[in-house]
Amino acid sequence: MEIGILGYGTVGRSVYRLLQKVEGAHVKYVLEQPDRLTEAFMTSDADLIFEDPSVELIVDALPGIHPSYEYIKRGLQSGKHVVSSNKAAICYGFSELSELAMKKGVSLLYEASCGGGIPIIEEILRVGALDQLDRVSGILNGTSNYMLWQMESSGMSYDEALHQAQELGYAEADPTADVSGFDVRNKIIILSSLAFDTYVEKDIPVMGIERIGKELMEELQKQGKSIKLMGIAVREAKRYALAVTPVVLDRRSLEANVSENFNMISINGEFIGELKFYGQGAGGDPTADAVVRDIEKVLFLDSTRYQRSFKNSLSYDPDLLCGRCYIGDQAFEDMRLSEGMERAKSEDKFFAFEL
Ligand SMILES: NC(=O)c1ccc[n+]([C@@H]2O[C@H](COP(=O)([O-])OP(=O)(O)OC[C@H]3O[C@@H](n4cnc5c(N)ncnc54)[C@H](OP(=O)(O)O)[C@@H]3O)[C@@H](O)[C@H]2O)c1
Repeated sequence: MEIGILGYGTVGRSVYRLLQKVEGAHVKYVLEQPDRLTEAFMTSDADLIFEDPSVELIVDALPGIHPSYEYIKRGLQSGKHVVSSNKAAICYGFSELSELAMKKGVSLLYEASCGGGIPIIEEILRVGALDQLDRVSGILNGTSNYMLWQMESSGMSYDEALHQAQELGYAEADPTADVSGFDVRNKIIILSSLAFDTYVEKDIPVMGIERIGKELMEELQKQGKSIKLMGIAVREAKRYALAVTPVVLDRRSLEANVSENFNMISINGEFIGELKFYGQGAGGDPTADAVVRDIEKVLFLDSTRYQRSFKNSLSYDPDLLCGRCYIGDQAFEDMRLSEGMERAKSEDKFFAFEL
């Protein structure tokens, strides 16, 4: 199968290398910036890739929504399979792109978009095909986890932890999407849509880690508690809710012990109970592994098994997320998460939800 890779950065390069090991896969083109066309297979002309009928599969390893979204759409429209690692573009056009893939009878796969190398989408689809999933939650951003872990274990300030995450290449020069919760928002929207088999609401409560300070960390530690940034999605019968929020956890819980830039994602099903997945949520090689596993589904398996019909008619009810909320230095019992977060934002205070 002839393949075109869009983007030759951290992920694109690793995908190119790993694909050399896959029998039956051949990279015909890599879309690269015009000033870096160092190899014969590189081009900066996207039309060449999309208009070549021998290219059957497009790998999207570009950053940001545009032009990824337009390229994914164009690939599907021209009857090509698309494998993407780009959660921003997938989340942006989620229902439209999923419907287009189904209409065209091609695959749109995006395992690498959530949790890097962790095979979470595959498991959600496998378990969810039989079982009713009523919860997806997790630590879905390695950069923010690294920062919180350093603040807690080494007593670093927020700025020191951010600086170190940038030095290690975990955080971008502009870390906004990681620390604001926006990256986690994209991932929990994708994962819960698949888990609940419906296109979930995108306008959800989101709070990042920017307001978390050293003093709060110290206070929580004294109480045997820990803080993590998590995406949470819950379903009860025909209703569901989701949010991205700092979460206060018992220090002995598994999530509280997820260190460095690792991720942990949990799903809960009626039959299976709770399953937890732990691993490298980012990095070129683990992410490329997820991309190539998707390509292998197209090559060797019936990849339509790895798609959802999004057939459930569920209603979004933010009131389902209700419990102990921390606003500044005060804790409130039985408060709606959405209400507590709004209040914290309007008063420019720290917010967290207790799990
Ligand atoms: N890195 C990870 O650990 C990881 C994990 C999971 C998912 N992802 C996702 O995977 C995607 C790629 O991430 P990455 O870390 O590989 O990013 P990256 O290192 O910044 O690579 C992206 C590459 O695409 C190039 N590019 C941008 N626009 C282009 C265009 N129009 N034509 C040709 N080349 C273009 C960039 O070049 P310039 O910089 O010169 O513009 C850069 O070389 C992102 O959507 C990211 O969210 C990454």
